[in-house]
Amino acid sequence: MRTFSQDFQTELYNLMKWRRDVRHFKPDPVDPELLRKCLDAFQMAPSVGLSEPWRIVTVNSPLARQKSLDNFKAANADALASYEGKRATTYAALKLSGMSDAPVQLAVFCAEDTAKGRGIGVQTMPEMRRYSVVSAIMSFWLAARAHGLGLGWVSIIDPVQLRTDLDLPDNWSLVAYLCIGWPKEETETPELETVGWEMRNAQLTTLIER
Ligand SMILES: Cc1cc2nc3c(=O)[nH]c(=O)nc-3n(C[C@H](O)[C@H](O)[C@H](O)COP(=O)(O)O)c2cc1C
Repeated sequence: MRTFSQDFQTELYNLMKWRRDVRHFKPDPVDPELLRKCLDAFQMAPSVGLSEPWRIVTVNSPLARQKSLDNFKAANADALASYEGKRATTYAALKLSGMSDAPVQLAVFCAEDTAKGRGIGVQTMPEMRRYSVVSAIMSFWLAARAHGLGLGWVSIIDPVQLRTDLDLPDNWSLVAYLCIGWPKEETETPELETVGWEMRNAQLTTLIER
């Protein structure tokens, strides 16, 4: 049996506690070898039917970065318009992406009709492919944090526009736009909590019994 030490168990919880959604990055570059090591998390991740439906696009060129940033700015302006009064003022002050400063930016897609996995588990719930991508991202997020790298998940993006701008196949759906780099600060508290937008639930996760 492969077992894990008590120290490791404690540290694993510390890792989860100190994982943050990071939106403020130092300008320092990320060593490609380190990024590669973190990306190994995808290879180890679970997926429905072993379909491994993640498709990872590195958004590198100035044009692709600019189009992605413009996409975020437009979507964020639309989102702001849905709030009123004090909420709108607070929303306008939030930094909801690190796209202007993150040295590494990845757009992670799901191949919605991949044949890999031979249909296991997706006939009843095809969305399981997307959930597989989400769970792989989570492993990647923790791996990055374990190496001191910050990751910010951006969802305020028009997914179809992004796919078109990056010239990707129609059957790929956007799951996440990830900003990665060295965080400006480390904290135990989510930024949205710090700025008074929303609080983490202080109670233990409740179980609903049936
Ligand atoms: C699916 C998903 C989408 C998210 N989208 C955004 C986003 O567009 N912009 C943003 O600033 N944070 C985004 N976040 C980060 C959350 O706001 C953050 O996880 C939450 O406030 C808790 O903070 P923590 O991750 O630091 O614990 C997203 C997180 C998830 C899991």
